[in-house]
Amino acid sequence: MSAPTGLDAADLADPARLRPNDPCFCGSGRKFKRCHGPSFERVRPGTVGPRRDVPDDIERPHYAAEGGRSRRDVPDVQDADTLEAMRRTGRAAAEVLRDVGAAVAPGVTTDELDRLCHEACLAAGGYPSPLNYGDPSFPKSICTSINEVICHGIPDSRPLRDGDIVNLDVTLFREGVHGDTNATFAVGTIDELSRRLIAVTRECLEKGIEAVRPGRPTSDIGRAIQDHAEGHGFSVVRAFTGHGVGREFHTGLHILHYHEPRDRIVTMEPGMTFTIEPMIALGAWQVRMWDDGWTAVTTDGRRTAQFEHTLVVTDDGCEILTLHPDGRWSGTP
Ligand code: MF3
Ligand code: CO
Ligand code: CO
Repeated sequence: MSAPTGLDAADLADPARLRPNDPCFCGSGRKFKRCHGPSFERVRPGTVGPRRDVPDDIERPHYAAEGGRSRRDVPDVQDADTLEAMRRTGRAAAEVLRDVGAAVAPGVTTDELDRLCHEACLAAGGYPSPLNYGDPSFPKSICTSINEVICHGIPDSRPLRDGDIVNLDVTLFREGVHGDTNATFAVGTIDELSRRLIAVTRECLEKGIEAVRPGRPTSDIGRAIQDHAEGHGFSVVRAFTGHGVGREFHTGLHILHYHEPRDRIVTMEPGMTFTIEPMIALGAWQVRMWDDGWTAVTTDGRRTAQFEHTLVVTDDGCEILTLHPDGRWSGTP
């Protein structure tokens, strides 16, 4: 492809009508099906396998048996003990994400990634937070979101294909607290536009994290993310936000990834814990839901990427609680 981010809406109006063996619209000279073609093929649901068991000696969150959502009206500023537990759990979640991410390859099913995540969480002495969370309750231990799936994809029998991008969202519950982190991975060789999307999305999370300061409104975060994404010609998904996290998976605190002047003003303060998890789209940011009640996809079928960290506000900025011990972020650079 000639210009990395040079594809605009006009370039992308026609590809939907190209046939597989036509030369690709991007001018690469390759067949459409071998070049940008895969970017226009929709993800289809596969078969979801049975729920995996959790041994009795693993401590469970309150929703594990009956499903149900988080309690929203809990404090977002943590005491010292809770924070110490969140440091340990966050780090362990980052290690699980790294390990599951290492298994991403063409031919691997998302259900296999679910098995790896489930076993890694148990091996870490924790519970995979997604399992049985919500209403309807999420049936698996990790969210796997491929291509135009924005978030909350349910692992199933679909094998990853060369050229896909996949987000793995890991949340671990241990010592009474959740650590929530995700990253987007290339499957085999991906097209240049997808690579740009992943890089810009990672930068969006970096910019959001840099905007965290005690005394400042949480809206600084969304403004920084939106400016960066739109500056690169991409869009910000609005329907899903970052959230307060700690003893509950999702508290009533919402961290927007775009600027909304009408949003409630919340001032960041030391000890406050929340996630930042921008979902950035190549095209439309509007959402459509699959019938499973969880899988969220873009209305135009174009790709999205996401990165997420759990963090705590400090006296002069923030500390990332879901940093891997080696300090590097997971996912495609
Ligand atoms: N980990 C997701 C988040 O970042 C939430 C997943 S909810 C689930 O907020 F039930 F789908 F797992
Ligand atoms: Co989250
Ligand atoms: Co998450």
